[in-house]
Amino acid sequence: MARDTTGTLGKGDVVSNESLANLLKEERRFAPPAGLAAEANVSAEAYERAKADRLGFWAEQARRLSWETEPTETLDWSNPPFAKWFADGRLNVAYNCVDRHVENGLGDRVAIHFEGEPGDTRTLTYAELQREVSKAANALIELGVEAGDRVAIYLPMIPEAVVSMLACARIGAPHSLVFGGFSADALATRINDADARVVITADGGYRRGKPSALKPAVDEALTRPGTENVRSVLVVRRTGQEDIAWTDGRDVWWHDLVESQSDQHTPQAFDAEHPLFILYTSGTTGKPKGILHTTGGYLTQISYTHHAVFDLKPETDVFWCTADVGWVTGHSYIVYGPLSNGATEVLYEGTPDSPHQGRWWEIVQKYGVTILYTAPTAIRAAMKWGDDIPAKFDLSSLRILGSVGEPINPEAWVWYRKHIGAGRTPVVDTWWQTETGGIMISPLPGVTETKPGSAQIPLPGIAATVVDDDAREVANGHGGYLVLTEPWPSMLRTIWGDDQRYLDTYWSRFEHKYFAGDGAKKDDDGDIWLLGRVDDVMLVSGHNISTTEVESALVSHPKVAEAAVVGATDPQTTQAICAFVILRGDADANEEGLVEELRAHVGKQLGPIAKPKRILPVAELPKTRSGKIMRRLLRDVAENRTLGDVTTLTDSSVMTLIQTQLPAASSED
Ligand code: WT7
Repeated sequence: MARDTTGTLGKGDVVSNESLANLLKEERRFAPPAGLAAEANVSAEAYERAKADRLGFWAEQARRLSWETEPTETLDWSNPPFAKWFADGRLNVAYNCVDRHVENGLGDRVAIHFEGEPGDTRTLTYAELQREVSKAANALIELGVEAGDRVAIYLPMIPEAVVSMLACARIGAPHSLVFGGFSADALATRINDADARVVITADGGYRRGKPSALKPAVDEALTRPGTENVRSVLVVRRTGQEDIAWTDGRDVWWHDLVESQSDQHTPQAFDAEHPLFILYTSGTTGKPKGILHTTGGYLTQISYTHHAVFDLKPETDVFWCTADVGWVTGHSYIVYGPLSNGATEVLYEGTPDSPHQGRWWEIVQKYGVTILYTAPTAIRAAMKWGDDIPAKFDLSSLRILGSVGEPINPEAWVWYRKHIGAGRTPVVDTWWQTETGGIMISPLPGVTETKPGSAQIPLPGIAATVVDDDAREVANGHGGYLVLTEPWPSMLRTIWGDDQRYLDTYWSRFEHKYFAGDGAKKDDDGDIWLLGRVDDVMLVSGHNISTTEVESALVSHPKVAEAAVVGATDPQTTQAICAFVILRGDADANEEGLVEELRAHVGKQLGPIAKPKRILPVAELPKTRSGKIMRRLLRDVAENRTLGDVTTLTDSSVMTLIQTQLPAASSED
């Protein structure tokens, strides 16, 4: 995953106007359903209101929350880019996500429908959640955790993950989640950088029908230098593995410590700028960046965007965000957004294809999910498995579909709407980042006429645009770099322990503008299309071509389910386009002329310059656990290099598989 935002491109547009014109040929439009538009939480008027008084608009959104001390100041931008939002306000995040709903008489409402991968289930009402969070908060206090101490959380997708996060928030201890699929090394680096005092983990979790151990990685991580300050390891029993190593005096079972606590705990308010969490995001080089988020501004924007973008009706909706809590999507749209809004939601532990490829659709049917938020990679996997699988389930409860994480190619967008949304649900393509904390660019389901493939316009109160190399806003119909031109409430406050890196990475490329690191273009209507990381743009014979566009062209061919494109160094053309494709269920990789057919298809869609030099059908693509294609590794393969770091890969055998297949592809040149 390329996350270095300091890279620069050559002169001119990021994307050649020739290929731009081609992508903008997408002409399908979908108006919001009339009923939804009439009842929508947010109408077009919000854009006007926010434009007239941006800070007033956010001050109004802050009133969605319960403050112990109401803020009188909205934004302090006297020391840019170090923002303070609602600085004189005080609140408790866990109180806002749990207790206040119970106080409002909603204690019996289901907060979480948990579905374990093996099929075990658990329901937590808001009243139960309040008791669980209180017990966990009391347990952390017993372990000596004080406000400001960092707690590392390394858990599977089980209710204790949500409970732990809220317990930390409740006592003002910033959490640092480390995705359960990360190695001991990755965990050690993150524990070290945040100087965590406690680690919350489990014996293991279920993945693909098998228990997968977690505790051994913690034990190993804690042998590494820089982790000495971890005093306690709190261990949830999930899988019941027997061979678990135990360090007396350090390790303690959740069921011993937490279950014995009082279920009463009085939350105390913290300053709006009190740290809420650190979440690490990888860079192309160097150590991961600890993205720091704080309390009042973060919760304001997350609560508002969850209400606006998903049109949440807490009395009737069942929300399901399929992300892992270890990613920012899980932080914002499993934990803080839905719960601050008093939603009922689904939490699912496992993979979409365990024990069968219809598992997700079975869950939608079982819980009557009304709003589904997932990633393009999952949608493309479902496309690959076949239309007949979702067709076996009753998905009629769904009313809004969301997408996040990478550009969604128009074919996947249209498939999602048609096969999951029965051709009637709006699809909202939401652009944002770990750094932005919450959704920034997205259609509004009751307002926007949607365009497959485009995230469209900044939300009310958000200022985003596309600029050229010289920081000038591009005209409609042109491409460049996505920038955010005004501070926003859920923005990162800094990189943990490294203010200079915060300045260098995000605020130095363009003066007074936040550089997101993504290429983007504006179409003739001024709508924004995301083109992927700028370091994912290829230079082919003097033309800048975005990997996303070529991938999108490949996936629009009926035989292709998924594609990953990289630029490999080439003596003639600077870079040569190299494509790795996963074929749809019924297509045959050995079919005569297939590669030529795909090349011709791309040539027709985007122009001859964009034809991949090599196309390699593969069974799987190397992805991070958040579903991002690791182009860096594919470039290593395409350039016959030894592979770089594979520790963040979901399944490292994928690369071995691809490498053994490579010679066959070279003969296609
Ligand atoms: C990067 C941020 C946002 C939560 C998950 C990822 C890409 C994200 C979209 C979208 C096109 C998207 C961007 C962004 N991205 N959403 N709707 N369309 N690209 O968080 O790991 O911090 O990654 O994901 O490249 O910069 P993240």
